[in-house]
Amino acid sequence: MKTIVLYYSRSRKTATVAETLAEELSADLQEIKDVKERSGILNYLGASVDAFRESKTKITPENLNLDNYGIIYLGSPTWAGKASPAIITFVDKADLKGKDVILFATMGNQGAKSVIKRMQEKIEARGARMVNSFSIKTSGKELIEIKEETWKKIEELDLKIYGN
Ligand SMILES: Cc1cc2nc3c(=O)[nH]c(=O)nc-3n(C[C@H](O)[C@H](O)[C@H](O)COP(=O)(O)O)c2cc1C
Repeated sequence: MKTIVLYYSRSRKTATVAETLAEELSADLQEIKDVKERSGILNYLGASVDAFRESKTKITPENLNLDNYGIIYLGSPTWAGKASPAIITFVDKADLKGKDVILFATMGNQGAKSVIKRMQEKIEARGARMVNSFSIKTSGKELIEIKEETWKKIEELDLKIYGN
């Protein structure tokens, strides 16, 4: 069974964590995109409201066949203390029966713990179990520092044991 890293990212931070995981763990990588325009300061408030309400959004790809994967990494930024709408939308439609999931969240400063808790509830409702999780603070950090933080997490949590 293979490993895949799935993520949503608006400003490349969660993407950097996801790409580093995929490189280090020789896993497949798949970005989940939000079709709704989320860039720019004007969309920030709308994004926060959508996340806070757990509103659904339109995503691409709409569906993913995860049959070949036993281990799934799933990552989201923290928005208004919640997971991003793209990830909530994805999880609520995904067939995760029997999958081992490792959740990760990035945050500016706070809120990732409740994001992970909520994502855990959501994946469990879809038949998966969370085998590990971690979060990374990104405020004031360059992408290379986020990459270094990810390397540290891989070491600390011994993520290479969830191998292919
Ligand atoms: C709409 C919006 C809401 C956010 N809300 C929070 C928050 O509640 N707590 C926090 O620590 N960071 C918050 N952030 C910051 C992001 O979680 C953080 O910068 C994250 O690492 C961005 O990941 P990305 O580059 O993958 O999109 C918010 C960012 C956006 C765009």
